[in-house]
Amino acid sequence: MTIMVRMLLLGIALAGASVANAGKPGAGGGTTTSPGGHIVANPNDYYLQANLTLFTTEDVNGATRTYPAGTQWYQVPNVEKLRAELAAGIYSGADRAAKAKVVEGYDIMNKTYEKIGMARTDGKPPLFKGKLMNCSTCHAQAGTVPNAWPFTRTYSLFGDRALQTDPVHEGEVYAPLGYWRDTTTVNRDCGINCAGQGHIPVGSDEMLALNSWVRAVTDGIYSGEGILLPELKLKVNNTKIPGARNPVFSRVLGDATFKANVAGGKLSYDRACASCHGRDGLGKWSDRDGYTVPPVAGPGSHTKAGGPYMAPVLAAFIQRQMPLSRPGSLSEQDALNIATYLTDLPRDSRWWEAYYYDHNPCGRPAYLPLDVGVVPSGFPFTAAQVKYGPWKPINDWLKSTGPYAPGGSAYGQGCAASNYRLDPKLPEDFDYGFHDVTGTFTNPGVYAQPQAR
Ligand code: HEC
Ligand code: HEC
Repeated sequence: MTIMVRMLLLGIALAGASVANAGKPGAGGGTTTSPGGHIVANPNDYYLQANLTLFTTEDVNGATRTYPAGTQWYQVPNVEKLRAELAAGIYSGADRAAKAKVVEGYDIMNKTYEKIGMARTDGKPPLFKGKLMNCSTCHAQAGTVPNAWPFTRTYSLFGDRALQTDPVHEGEVYAPLGYWRDTTTVNRDCGINCAGQGHIPVGSDEMLALNSWVRAVTDGIYSGEGILLPELKLKVNNTKIPGARNPVFSRVLGDATFKANVAGGKLSYDRACASCHGRDGLGKWSDRDGYTVPPVAGPGSHTKAGGPYMAPVLAAFIQRQMPLSRPGSLSEQDALNIATYLTDLPRDSRWWEAYYYDHNPCGRPAYLPLDVGVVPSGFPFTAAQVKYGPWKPINDWLKSTGPYAPGGSAYGQGCAASNYRLDPKLPEDFDYGFHDVTGTFTNPGVYAQPQAR
């Protein structure tokens, strides 16, 4: 998907700053017998676990300020208070409309199938007719739980064209893949590639609502909410937001022997996960309620263009959040084995080569499977190694600006020595297509056909 390569860089940067999740209570306090339920935050994760030094402006040579361990850095916005105030009619006009959008976006996150899928009840047509996961199954509690792919960094990093208030918030070049993204495009692309292909059109009311919620996660609804340390909203400090990136285990790129064991992953999955997600990984679905347990395989699950298709990315989530009733109980090795096993189960491709057209291929994550994205010419590793590891040698080759020593002359030059072009070519609104409510694939335009390199 669109969203992932940054994971690599920020994952490393965050590894040291991440907050331990040990002792985090699962839904139901660890005694859950029913398969449903939700990931919840450990309240301690909203307080700094160590002193945190931040730049006071966007200038990396400028002044810094240090907050002591124990400082509260986040407060979850009180959306139910706002819902009650709206019902009581205390706002009016444009103010009311804007506030209603925040609640609407929150509801789309938590009840995606009801709000935009076939169970839609507001009289408008569903945006997608297939099985839809709730966005909150991965972005736990509507994107407010550290280490569960939260939105705490999203608005301050990407900004949004529809909400833009200052030039810092104009979007981000996704440098390794060479195109622009803002909050709208990441919402759109994750709906397609993570959540079972729900396409939320740019400019739609639903998209504006989602964007309003994403912004509220950062800025809060009332004062004293959202990110509480103003410096943490600066782009320059973005990687220091605790748990904002689900850091990939440091051994993934740091240990030349760390690799997955898929057969072991199947055993662990059947033992620890299958009772809820099913042996086939298809989750539990009803046409009335949607997914009560989300799928981890099959057409309702993330596609091969979704972030979790990279096993180390998925492993970081699994180790910190699953099994639902005993998060943190798996070893890193076990989590990696399971994630890799899931990556091998059937799922939609949705891959389209033009997507990564004309970028610098050395920027690909070492663990981005070879069936996703352009492969650098002269790439000296097998598809199996890219999928199962070890990834350190691959990463070293991708970053190498000279001959790649560990492999001797057999490896030739490192990728970064090969002078690939870096210039982004895709426009901000680049949209590679989607399945509409009838299941028909539509490409809105910029690139009519996949581009061969
Ligand atoms: C007690 C039931 C239960 C068990 C056991 C369980 N899960 Fe989950 N899992 C859930 C539920 C429910 C969610 C959605 C959480 C939410 O909505 O906050 C979820 C979410 C997920 C997600 C993110 C959404 C998705 O479907 O991609 C993944 C990945 C996942 N689980 C993997 C696992 C793995 C791997 C294991 C075994 C180590 C496991 N789960 C064990 C119930 C369970
Ligand atoms: C199967 C899990 C899953 C589901 C379901 C899911 N996402 Fe995501 N989403 C991800 C992952 C993984 C990322 C990348 C996060 C990262 O790189 O740290 C992501 C990234 C995002 C981002 C960018 C966040 C950031 O700061 O980089 C947004 C916005 C987003 N998703 C919106 C949505 C919306 C809206 C939905 C529902 C329509 C949704 N997602 C459903 C897994 C999921």
